[in-house]
Formats: sequence, structure tokens, C-alpha cells
Amino acid sequence: MRLILLGLPGVGKGTQAKILATRQGLLHISTGDMFREAAAAGTELGKRAQEFMSAGALVPDEVTIGMLLERIAQPDAAKGLMLDGFPRTIPQAEALDAALAKQGDQIDRVLYIQVPEAELVARLTGRWSCSNCGAIYHMQSKPPKAAGVCDECGGALSQRADDQPATVNARLDTNRAWTEALAEFYGKQGKLEAIDGTGSPDDITARLEGALANVS
Ligand code: AP5
Repeated sequence: MRLILLGLPGVGKGTQAKILATRQGLLHISTGDMFREAAAAGTELGKRAQEFMSAGALVPDEVTIGMLLERIAQPDAAKGLMLDGFPRTIPQAEALDAALAKQGDQIDRVLYIQVPEAELVARLTGRWSCSNCGAIYHMQSKPPKAAGVCDECGGALSQRADDQPATVNARLDTNRAWTEALAEFYGKQGKLEAIDGTGSPDDITARLEGALANVS
């Protein structure tokens, strides 16, 4: 199965992708995580990506597409894909379709998670993540048991630099039109499924799994 989680920043793509990828035996690929890892490692790619991420802008397609296509060509991608944060533009979607078609594959379903924007700002500005294992928390809706410490691995929790209110608004502005264009793109292919992203994370997982029930 090859799936895409589509939606504006903060709708819960990362939270749900981790759960679904484990349950469905898929490889979870987050281009945001890949860029943050490259930035932390101080690579040229990471330094370049960081400039765009800090401004709430998209990393240019020529960088992003090459990185993603290289990743999905690795052997562990053969078990199936849970793409989180890619594609984000129509050229990215077209490049992905073309690369999969070359190996006789395709995207099976695009799950479009939708949440009112006012709630997204609160979700993002209250998010903390584990710098070791990547587990995601929220100060109100999913606080860790001990402040600043990951429940799962004991790692230190930190806030993303791009979760400051001004950058959050810039990210929403950047992504709004592209997200709608991608919904239209996959809607025309008959692959789009809209998912209500409000309610508890468990409710949303159940909705997503319900939408996958008839995907082979
Ligand atoms: P990326 O890391 O992909 O960020 P994003 O799309 O902005 O998405 P987020 O990770 O912020 O949110 P999410 O939907 O995963 O929500 P989460 O589950 O964490 O990208 C970062 C940057 O990298 C981009 O801005 C861009 O610069 C660059 N980039 C990445 N991919 C790119 C691409 N393809 N092309 C070009 N540039 C690219 O949840 C958010 C919070 O809400 C958490 O605190 C969580 O605990 C909480 N929460 C989750 N579910 C619920 C719920 N049901 N109720 C209440 N709270 C909830």
C-alpha cells in the first residue's frame, strides 16, 4: 500500500503517520523530518533547507524531489509507503507519480485531513517533540508525564523553531493554495478521501483506518 497524508501544518499528519505506519507495516517518510535531520547534521542540504523552513516557506522542488525519490528507491520502501508532508506541490506530485509508474506502482489513497485553521495555530504553538525518537506531544492535549522528558525514551523535548506564532502563520499562508491544488489533483485521479481531523487522536486514527478498509 502506498499512502499520502495530505493536510495543512498541524492537522496531525506526523501523529497519525507514526501510528498508521506501525499498524499497517509501512515505511513512514516525513520530508520535514528528513530536512530537520540534515540541518541538525550540518550538511549542505540541511543548511539550505533550514533557510526556507525558518521563513515558513517551501524548500525548492529541485532539492525536495531528488531527496524523496532517492529515499523511496531504497529496499525498505518496497514494503509500502506512508508519505507525510510530500508531495506539497503539483510538480512534486507529478514526479512521484512518474517515479512509481516506472516501477509499475502507484499511490493507492490520499487521506486529506481537515481541521479549522484557528485550531491549527493552537496545536502548533503548543507542540513539543522528542529530539531523540521524534515522539510528538502537546502541552494541553498530550502532555508528557514529566515536563520536558519523553515518555517513550527519556529524551529531551524541544519546540520547533518554525512553531513560533509568526512562522506558523507564514506556513499556513504558504501551504493553503498548494494543499487545495493537490486535493484537486488527486480528486481527479479518484484517490482522495477527506477525513475530519477534529476530535481525539484515537477518533482520527479510527476514521483513517475506516477509509483504508477497502484499499488492498
Ligand atoms: P513538516 O515537518 O512536514 O511540517 P508541517 O507540514 O508544517 O506539518 P507539521 O509537522 O507542523 O504538523 P503535522 O500535521 O505533522 O501535525 P502533528 O502531528 O505534529 O515540514 C516542515 C517544513 O519543512 C516546511 O514548512 C517546509 O519548509 C519543509 N518541507 C517539508 N516537506 C516539504 C516538501 N514536500 N516540499 C517543500 N518543503 C518541505 O500535530 C501538531 C500538534 O497537534 C502536536 O502537538 C500534536 O500533539 C497535536 N495534535 C495532533 N493531533 C491532535 C488532535 N487530534 N487533537 C489535538 N491536538 C492534536
